[in-house]
Amino acid sequence: MVKASAPGKLMLFGDHAVVYGHPCVVTAVSKRIEVSVAEYERNEVCIDTPGVNDHSFIHAVLSRVSSLWCLPRSIRITVRSSFSGAYGFGSSSAVTVALIKALATYTSRAISDRELFLFALDVVLSVQKVGSGFDVAAASFGRTLLYKNKGEIIEPLPWKDIRLIVGYTGVKASTVEIVREVAEKRDHHPEQIDLLFNRMENIVWQAKQAMKENNMPWLGELMDEHHSLLQTLGVSSEKLDSLVLAAKRAGAFGAKLSGAGRGDCMIALVSKEREEDISTAIRLAGGEVVFVAFDEEGARLEV
Ligand code: MEV
Repeated sequence: MVKASAPGKLMLFGDHAVVYGHPCVVTAVSKRIEVSVAEYERNEVCIDTPGVNDHSFIHAVLSRVSSLWCLPRSIRITVRSSFSGAYGFGSSSAVTVALIKALATYTSRAISDRELFLFALDVVLSVQKVGSGFDVAAASFGRTLLYKNKGEIIEPLPWKDIRLIVGYTGVKASTVEIVREVAEKRDHHPEQIDLLFNRMENIVWQAKQAMKENNMPWLGELMDEHHSLLQTLGVSSEKLDSLVLAAKRAGAFGAKLSGAGRGDCMIALVSKEREEDISTAIRLAGGEVVFVAFDEEGARLEV
């Protein structure tokens, strides 16, 4: 039996703009998806994924791998997740990456992280049709990355004293729907929307510098500014705004929604001293604090 896992991700900067070829900053989180591949007694592929109804990414991996690698007919694929799909941590890309890694090892193939990323990106795009692949990069390489457009830039960024609190709104957002709405808006008002994306890109370059200098107040200001741009884009929500405001009032350096918006999670950059108070403030505002570590390892084999 072979077991592999890949991490989920959290978007720090560049949400939505990344869809249009702008850079973003993404970090891999400690919530992982684990895939095992084992021999199966019947002459068929058995897929065992409790709680996961959408097998489209698994089928897409299998159809690619069967035509390229000599995959035995009798295998059992089991998927276990340490996170709920609701948080928006990117389970589709993590499942795709972990499965490819497990199947490569099962068929005695050496696969580099770069090859794994490109293979998984190809699979994810074949299913989703659109996407920049930042979540595939986080699942493959792990750590915290400056990422641009289908792997044009993949640069690890330093993660020193960054303390983040993740607040879940309790609302599951539909990324596909929100991304489609933003695309419609951009069709109607291309100049205004591209101006927002250009300003987000500017924030991403500054965030890279702030991370290199380990400058938390600056990084916090950039998060606040980014959240305002996402509000202007129309992807925030009352709940997200109230959690962001609660974190700020309790002394966060900065706070913003993370990901597509409307629901899922917000993040707050905090100091060690203020951490407890800010968590309490987020809870009192109706958010669920999700305990998760950041800057985690990418895809790996498990024993
Ligand atoms: C969702 O986590 C981030 C978006 O930028 C969509 C995407 O890039 O796939 C909103």
